[in-house]
Amino acid sequence: MTTVGFLGSGQLGGAIARLAVQAGHRVVLSNSRGPETLADTVAELGPLASAATVGEAAAAGDLVVVTVPVKAFPAVPAAPLAGKTVIDTCNYGPERDGHIAELDGTSLTSTELLLRYVPDAVPVKAFNTIFFKHLLSLARPAGAGDRSYLPIAGDSGPAKEAVTAFIESIGYGVVDAGSLAGSWRQATGTPVWGTPYGPPSDEKGRQAGEEAIRAALAAATR
Ligand SMILES: NC(=O)c1ccc[n+]([C@@H]2O[C@H](COP(=O)([O-])OP(=O)(O)OC[C@H]3O[C@@H](n4cnc5c(N)ncnc54)[C@H](OP(=O)(O)O)[C@@H]3O)[C@@H](O)[C@H]2O)c1
Repeated sequence: MTTVGFLGSGQLGGAIARLAVQAGHRVVLSNSRGPETLADTVAELGPLASAATVGEAAAAGDLVVVTVPVKAFPAVPAAPLAGKTVIDTCNYGPERDGHIAELDGTSLTSTELLLRYVPDAVPVKAFNTIFFKHLLSLARPAGAGDRSYLPIAGDSGPAKEAVTAFIESIGYGVVDAGSLAGSWRQATGTPVWGTPYGPPSDEKGRQAGEEAIRAALAAATR
């Protein structure tokens, strides 16, 4: 069992937390408004779930999922994340986040931007390519022939191993998409972003296997 801290517990954070609890992990949820606003979600998820402040959730997690709008990165606390593997699910969108010069250009990927705020954390980009409803509906047990795959990117082998183990435990296979600097290959609007799992209008989504995800990553251009 892993304890997973969540900074952000909205659509995607809530979906990952649900799969984590189903897989027997403990989850500690947080959001911007405070733990009391997460009471209904915690009650629904059951005894493996609890709610806390952002700082407490960051401190509690063996693994911490940052799943907030990119504009909230400055609010992610650095000290409790030092040395920890942090999953960054976040996608930059100027319509929601405002314009961020480094991200409008190609000098920085959004996970590299997060790293500026949490310099001692060990981030891995994951889950940013899949619609939360597809994430819930396409999860399959290990060994199932119709497992879907998710790309991950990061600079630390051990952190990628930890994230791979977590993702595999909640129903997906993993394709290593390379470094944080190369994570533009799975950023908003790239071929691997959303499309392999079908349109959001089809809430069930469709299976995307390892080869489909590798081919979509290879097709990315900028
Ligand atoms: N939804 C998807 O299918 C999907 C798929 C792939 C990637 N993503 C990406 O994942 C991230 C989360 O998306 P989402 O759809 O789950 O968003 P969402 O439903 O709007 O939830 C955002 C969460 O972040 C929290 N938050 C916002 N500002 C915060 C702060 N300063 N401190 C702590 N928590 C804060 C919110 O808390 P409050 O509600 O209390 O403000 C909420 O729990 C985004 O970057 C998005 O682009 C989403």
